[in-house]
Amino acid sequence: MRLDRFFSEQTAYSRKEAAELIRGGAVSVNGAAVRKPDTAVNPEADEILLRGKPVLYRKNRYILLHKPEGVITASRDRTQKTVLDLLRPEDRLPGMVPAGRLDKDTAGLLLITDDGQLTHKMLSPKSHAPKYYLAALRDPFTEETAGMFRAGILLREGASEELCLPAESAAVAPKLAVIELHEGKYHQVRRMFAAAGNHVEKLLRVQIGAVRLPPDLPAGSYVNIFNKDAESVLKKSHISDVCAFVMQNYSSYWINGGK
Ligand code: URA
Repeated sequence: MRLDRFFSEQTAYSRKEAAELIRGGAVSVNGAAVRKPDTAVNPEADEILLRGKPVLYRKNRYILLHKPEGVITASRDRTQKTVLDLLRPEDRLPGMVPAGRLDKDTAGLLLITDDGQLTHKMLSPKSHAPKYYLAALRDPFTEETAGMFRAGILLREGASEELCLPAESAAVAPKLAVIELHEGKYHQVRRMFAAAGNHVEKLLRVQIGAVRLPPDLPAGSYVNIFNKDAESVLKKSHISDVCAFVMQNYSSYWINGGK
């Protein structure tokens, strides 16, 4: 890979800025100063320093976005704002796509990455990572609803029927419930509550696996995280821990206008 490309992929510098830095003598490779932007480097083996400090090589990128309502989970759209439009240009790198989706009207945790393997693992039915949602309901949450979800609720639409996998759920306030899903059917949480005779007014994804929506991250903002942290989407969690996390951080989410 060319040295200037390495910089444009791994740092916030554009290729042009990187070329200027290299020509200016700010960069060394394996201890030797280099001044040619087209110098070939092997990012996995070579030690590349910028003003004496190592530029760490990251094979994949991972972004944790607090998706706001009103934005669609797509890479691009002719008319509507997409989650990728929320990224700064330097983070909108080739191959970065949302891992899974949230409805336009749903807010919360969304992973955006170019790591296809992790995305596949996260979404594959075999290791389907648990996803946790906080639902604000029209009517109080009941134990009867929890029982229906635990047994596997049937979603009926016209002549079609879809049986959901058993799902755990629990109330954190009379009209606020956390639900754990291991699959991703279309509008699943909203349709499950509708099938139980309730209605979801607002929906927030608070956790995937063991990765939580950072409480200090405002809607529309994001953070870059490392591979080892992103891989925690595959870890197990327990709904009681998620409820405690929600009660501490998100029980007044909508009262505060979505943070
Ligand atoms: N279930 C829904 O209804 N919407 C989402 O965005 C995710 C799960």
